[in-house]
Amino acid sequence: MKKIITIGASTSKKSINKILAEYTGGLLTDINLIKVDLNDYEMPLFSVDFESEHGSPKGAIELNDIINEADGFIISFAEHNGAYSSGFKNAFDWLSRINGEVWRDKPVLLLATSPGARGGQTVLDIALGRFPFMGAKIIGNMSVPSFFDNFKDGEMINKELKLSLNKLVEDFKQAI
Ligand SMILES: Cc1cc2nc3c(=O)[nH]c(=O)nc-3n(C[C@H](O)[C@H](O)[C@H](O)COP(=O)(O)O)c2cc1C
Repeated sequence: MKKIITIGASTSKKSINKILAEYTGGLLTDINLIKVDLNDYEMPLFSVDFESEHGSPKGAIELNDIINEADGFIISFAEHNGAYSSGFKNAFDWLSRINGEVWRDKPVLLLATSPGARGGQTVLDIALGRFPFMGAKIIGNMSVPSFFDNFKDGEMINKELKLSLNKLVEDFKQAI
């Protein structure tokens, strides 16, 4: 069975991006879904000095090991001041030092959501520009605006958005 990793690119315990990534992963069938919570992988703030003294932190090595096993990734980005959340950026920087092909040339779905009308489109654009250089085979992307209006009781209630998401999941299924 294929292993797909979902990542809410946030360290919030109530992360709406973690909810969206896991919901999207749940639309796949016959899949071993590995739900990554960045809080489970502790790492200090990236510093070249820490790295030269101690090497990679245990949390980064563990996360890298899990990534090694994956057949694809569904990542949803929290947008903080128009950019990656610090927690994700930190993990991404550490991972990139272990293996620059962070996403291993595997299929990746990129998502973002926020309570606002742009739905994290700015951070999604950053990831769309950068991820191809980090080994991501991007299959599709989507931002979900106004999360709390469009997603209720564990379900995407906006029909248009649901159709778009279903299409992305179908494309992803073909790619893995
Ligand atoms: C420091 C900070 C900066 C934020 N900046 C943005 C922003 O630039 N754009 C946006 O749409 N939402 C912004 N927000 C609101 C987030 O979209 C909101 O907190 C969302 O829940 C984050 O996703 P998460 O729940 O997955 O962590 C910001 C929130 C914080 C705490």
